[in-house]
Amino acid sequence: MRCHLLLALAFALLHISCVQSVGPSPDIAPEDKTDTPENTDPSGNDKPSSVLVACFSFTGNTWSVAQTLASISGATLYRITPAVAYGSDNSNYYDSSTRAYQEQYGPASARPEIQATLDGTGYDTVLLGFPIWYGKAPRVVFTFLDTYDFSGKTVIPFITSGSTGISSAASELKSAYPAIDWKTGDRLNGRSASALQEWLEGLGISKQSTDMTVTVAGKSFSATLADNSTARAFADLLPMTLDMEELNGNEKYCYLSGSLPSAPSNPGRIEAGDIMLFGSSCVVLFYESFNTSYSYTRIGKITDTSGLKAALGSGNPAVTFSR
Ligand SMILES: Cc1cc2nc3c(=O)[nH]c(=O)nc-3n(C[C@H](O)[C@H](O)[C@H](O)COP(=O)(O)O)c2cc1C
Repeated sequence: MRCHLLLALAFALLHISCVQSVGPSPDIAPEDKTDTPENTDPSGNDKPSSVLVACFSFTGNTWSVAQTLASISGATLYRITPAVAYGSDNSNYYDSSTRAYQEQYGPASARPEIQATLDGTGYDTVLLGFPIWYGKAPRVVFTFLDTYDFSGKTVIPFITSGSTGISSAASELKSAYPAIDWKTGDRLNGRSASALQEWLEGLGISKQSTDMTVTVAGKSFSATLADNSTARAFADLLPMTLDMEELNGNEKYCYLSGSLPSAPSNPGRIEAGDIMLFGSSCVVLFYESFNTSYSYTRIGKITDTSGLKAALGSGNPAVTFSR
């Protein structure tokens, strides 16, 4: 990747150095896209939705349910973490002097600070878990929904509690965030993994595939997508054919016409078959392995690279990425 700086400059001068075609245009940032509720694209191809399980938990009950939901569905798991942890005194919910009591019975506008570390809102569906605190959702859940805009996205609340049901908490959330497409949630205390799977299936959430196919010169290679928002945003663009440019005898690259979410870091070493994002819009497919000092965000990886270099050739091949 020694030539990436030159490459970026050359691209700026030439305006377009490779062409993307077929699938939907990436002009719109994936975060701005709103899928249909069935999450199918206009061509009728099934597209697995991207699902986030986001959960606040004080004593671990709801977190354990969240972990099972994420592992069954293949969803991304995220713990909503208060900036200042709730002390163990909050376990005594009859004590009106505790922070939890004060927040829940204080102004509804209270928004305890959280650690805002979620990698964007490029999810179609959010399973939002929390314990019931004094009949309601803890205020940190509201902070989470204030911090990340899920307008137009499907959010399904789930709770654990001593005995209280979900309905009051769900209605309060619904009226506070009317732009979210709320679906009926449930109290999930003590459900087995198979019962949780049944619950997910009832919501139309099944295991997400991380499979992708990369086709070049009539030869197809199986690939897996990374578990990150970059890969999910890339997957949303598929199928897509990129007219890729040769660089350095080790990679083919193409700039998309729009940006994808990115969180670049230096991988140290590039392996043949790596599919990376350079910057926020340059898709790079590597066919040689070497050490690198450049930073990328992983999109995915071709699992068996036999024949990849030959198929890509020495020129500028058209490469199709599909699910
Ligand atoms: C501050 C506080 C308030 C609570 N209020 C209620 C309540 O109103 N109704 C109820 O059924 N359980 C209540 N509980 C019990 C929790 O909802 C229940 O233990 C839950 O499973 C805890 O989830 P967690 O381990 O994920 O924090 C309360 C617990 C705490 C700590």
